Amino acid sequence: MSRAIGVDIGGSGIKAAIVDVEKGDFDGERVKIATPRPATPEAVVATTREAIAGFPADLPVGIGFPAAVLDGTVMTAAHVDPAWIGFAGTPAFAHAFERECTMLNDADAAGLAEMRFGSGEGEQGVVVMLTLGTGIGSALFINGELVPNTEFGHIEIRGQDAESRAAASRRKADDLSWTEWAALLDEAIHRLDLLLWPELVILGGGVSRKAEKFVPLLTARPRIVPARLLNRAGIVGAACRAREVL
Ligand code: BGC
Repeated sequence: MSRAIGVDIGGSGIKAAIVDVEKGDFDGERVKIATPRPATPEAVVATTREAIAGFPADLPVGIGFPAAVLDGTVMTAAHVDPAWIGFAGTPAFAHAFERECTMLNDADAAGLAEMRFGSGEGEQGVVVMLTLGTGIGSALFINGELVPNTEFGHIEIRGQDAESRAAASRRKADDLSWTEWAALLDEAIHRLDLLLWPELVILGGGVSRKAEKFVPLLTARPRIVPARLLNRAGIVGAACRAREVL
């Protein structure tokens, strides 16, 4: 069995598990610790170290992070402390963990897992995965190959970021009905369609568990399917990346 540790750093929680990268599933329990506030680099590195402390020391670590990540350096900070911008994350995590690690965008990690083990399995052409949570993350695939660090959650719709209109958090914050929220999401997917003309759109994030409440209400042209790995995708994809590159 080939294993690696996957970590998913989010606005509210830092989640980690050992992953069987051949099966695309957890090998044991998931650990979850609240994201420290403020979520400065030092605090997040220390909390993540705590989250993985009980896992075997010889496994490489893949970290999904909610920002564009270029060569291990965090480039943006939509939902994390601005101190992350320009922070060399990979060496800081590797130093703290005393193990090899790699970092990638959280939605890219989730997309990799869905393409390999979930709703995107075997899909060719242009596929977009959107993760619907606090923000909207995106992952773009062309014939199964990831184009990293797309930030489609930030396309502008009616003068606002797509994610501030249509993220899953918006439904809760504004107490929207499923129909009201689906209309906002639908508009974002219509817009994305005009820019990319994808074959398939995969909708992930915790809300994909309730897909029957909103996917049938979407009218956008591409095939739209819910993610299959639900919120396991980010951890599984990050671990797969670690196994591949480390
Ligand atoms: C960030 C993305 C991230 C997404 C989901 C967005 O605000 O800009 O990098 O993937 O949130 O966490």
